Amino acid sequence: MAFLAIRGGEPVRTESFPVWPVWGDEEIANLTQVIKSGQWGRLKGTVTADFERRFAELQGARYGICLNSGTTALQIALVAADVMPGTEVICPAYTFIATASAIVDVGCIPVFVDVDPNTFNIDPEKIRQAITDRTSAIMPVHFAGRPFDVDAVLQIARDHGLKVIEDAAQAWGASWNGKPVGALGDAGCFSFQSSKNINCGEGGIILTNDEMVAKFAQAHHNCGRSQDGQWYEHFYYGGNYRMTELQAAVLHAQLDRYPELHRIRLENLAYLQQGLAEIDGIELCSDDARITRHACHLYAFRYLKSHFSGAAKSVFIEALRKEGIPASPGYSLPLYAQPVFRQKSFGPRGKKVHLDIDYTTCHCPVTEDLCYEQAVWFTQNMLLGTQEDMDDIIEAVVKISEHADEIAV
Ligand SMILES: Cc1ncc(COP(=O)(O)O)c(C=O)c1O
Repeated sequence: MAFLAIRGGEPVRTESFPVWPVWGDEEIANLTQVIKSGQWGRLKGTVTADFERRFAELQGARYGICLNSGTTALQIALVAADVMPGTEVICPAYTFIATASAIVDVGCIPVFVDVDPNTFNIDPEKIRQAITDRTSAIMPVHFAGRPFDVDAVLQIARDHGLKVIEDAAQAWGASWNGKPVGALGDAGCFSFQSSKNINCGEGGIILTNDEMVAKFAQAHHNCGRSQDGQWYEHFYYGGNYRMTELQAAVLHAQLDRYPELHRIRLENLAYLQQGLAEIDGIELCSDDARITRHACHLYAFRYLKSHFSGAAKSVFIEALRKEGIPASPGYSLPLYAQPVFRQKSFGPRGKKVHLDIDYTTCHCPVTEDLCYEQAVWFTQNMLLGTQEDMDDIIEAVVKISEHADEIAV
């Protein structure tokens, strides 16, 4: 008789985990107010500007500029931070495509470096090795909501005169050494896209302490207008990347409920971490003592198949799913191995463009192991469950570990 659900045994659970988004009367009330005001765009409204102030204050930044997505936030932050086209911008190979596509979109060259297997975050030593005389900036990611080694990255930037744009798309409320992330370098960008812990469907924000970065981000996201110029006067190059008042109305309500949801996620994350720690072949991420707050966007760990009868990661994930635990394999390819980078098809309709870099020779072994063999994620909505839900996750992993012979290759 089989034990594992993937082989016909009883699953650990059949109920689903909490659904996302979490919303209520507050979102509806805020939206209704905006609709009734007739000010649906931000130009004459106050709701987006108020949210910018609130979120910037939360993250300890002087300025906040809301945008229509986290991706455009990254693009505009690069421009506003004076990162010149044609230069190289260093970013991790293990991240969402937007980190690198934003770099391409502003005419720069993404240079991919490897991550640390214990944090999945950019490896500072690899940054140093990748610096050339064409490097202008570093765009590290606070992956999963766990701050990267901010001290090391800022030191490298100082040593080489580089800009730092934090990709904080997953890091609302995270802090390093007691300082909230987002405006620790030249600028930082957050996402409010549907899957994110603060969600308005689509949206983003740039944070900065630098007045000039704020000024140029403002101008660029609003068709190149200057704040005190005429309506049809365009001093700078730019486009329309503005957030609507409707999005900001939802964000206010989401931010109100954030502290309580964050508390639940943090508690569950700590509990899960304890429960999974003793299982052979499950390698947990480690937290630097300087990480004072994790944003808990994802719970990610490494699966080592040698402890599970050699079963591939895809089989382990399928086994978990059959036990009622919706695990994710995470990013399936290092960014440099994505067809768009291998072929440098950044032109119209995927036409190849000339860029002075060959991504086919790029090789980041840790990222490759994470993508192909090891990384397993649980999404933030799962961390909103009860302690019993966490027990189920732990029980399912233990069960698969104890009966790994049933999924042996
Ligand atoms: C690391 C990272 N960077 C950038 C983005 C882009 O944000 P958006 O989807 O709001 O454009 C995301 C979103 O998933 C992300 O996870």
